[in-house]
Amino acid sequence: MAKMSFSYGLSLFFMSVIPGAWRRTAAGAGLLAADGTVAPTIFAEMSAAAARTGAINLGQGFPDEDGPSIVLEAARQAIADGANQYPPGRGVPDLLAAISEHQRRFYGLEVDPATEVIVTAGATEALTASLLALIDGPDDEVVVFEPYYDSYAAAVALAGARLRTVPLRAPGFQPDLDQLAAAVTDRTRIILVNDPHNPTGAVFGAEVLAEVVRLAQRHDAIIITDEVYEHLAFHATHTPIATLPGAAERTLTISSAGKTFSATGWKIGWVHGPAALITAVLTVKQYLTYVNGSPFQPAVAVGLRLDDAYFTGAASALARKHEILGDGLRAAGFTVHAPQGGYFTVADATALGGTDAAAFCRALPERAGVVAIPLTAFVSEARRGEYGGLVRFAACKRVEVLEEAASRLAALAV
Ligand SMILES: Cc1ncc(COP(=O)(O)O)c(C=O)c1O
Repeated sequence: MAKMSFSYGLSLFFMSVIPGAWRRTAAGAGLLAADGTVAPTIFAEMSAAAARTGAINLGQGFPDEDGPSIVLEAARQAIADGANQYPPGRGVPDLLAAISEHQRRFYGLEVDPATEVIVTAGATEALTASLLALIDGPDDEVVVFEPYYDSYAAAVALAGARLRTVPLRAPGFQPDLDQLAAAVTDRTRIILVNDPHNPTGAVFGAEVLAEVVRLAQRHDAIIITDEVYEHLAFHATHTPIATLPGAAERTLTISSAGKTFSATGWKIGWVHGPAALITAVLTVKQYLTYVNGSPFQPAVAVGLRLDDAYFTGAASALARKHEILGDGLRAAGFTVHAPQGGYFTVADATALGGTDAAAFCRALPERAGVVAIPLTAFVSEARRGEYGGLVRFAACKRVEVLEEAASRLAALAV
């Protein structure tokens, strides 16, 4: 289309002429179509396919049953008690205290609830606010493992930095330490690590975490860790990077109530770290949402103070679900890469003719009555070929739903 002078009236019909940061955000997420419009995410496309076909939706990662009733009841009570107006900007003091207690109880980390932690609109806001706050210009680089959670590339692009990726390859999905070292340079502003990892299910080994810290020190980079699956590691121990020697002073640790308490819709997250970094993040965060989830914040405080049995029970129940799903996938002919943590199992569909996982996933609802997501949705365009046969299935569903999905998938074997 010939270049035209910009008009908001016309833009209703020609999205491609609307200037703004949305464009680089869409491009970063791999969603900017050739005609300049924005394509729907594969998650939206697959959820629509599930609704259209009645397929079981193992695409998006949200649980299909509620979390602990005491936590739900605390939210109801908070509404009844009038917790319905803006909470303080940093978060409800009781939740800030509960996060600090939680970090000490599980990891031995000392977090000052007054200055070193803020509550955010989910981990997503914590991540985006941190990137927007700390990236300083187009020469800054953010190093991430690839595949990556889809908001990372979009938020890095929105913040105006360059994404440098280090591939995770099957089996095991641990990074090559030489490739990691080569990716981190003096241009690296942030090393962003998601552990336990979505989508691969990897929990990173001690030598990987130590290398992240060593490289961050050497190149004076900030570490941001996304630990939303911190309580859902079942075949490995989760170690927050901030607990490693020399890490805490340069690390922002992010988590959220969504996965731990099966309350993804509450969008209560948090970020903690050194007071100066937290003040920087708060400066941006206060102009994004300011605050959120007033009655949910005290309820999450109740959750974080539940006894150990709740947390270990959540991890072992999820491990069992992965086993059911994994057995079904193996019986159907997939090669299963059993996860060490998190909501997802990755399986290779090559033996089922799924060398192009995106096409395989588009056909799967009709073929087997199940929806899944190709791993290519989590990689940059340049690397899509390397992940062509891999498919991500969510295991955070009721046992009977997973059993039904397994029996439907079995049809692929015949
Ligand atoms: C790795 C990872 N980070 C962040 C999020 C988003 O967390 P929240 O819903 O708390 O914003 C998710 C949700 O799927 C995730 O998998």
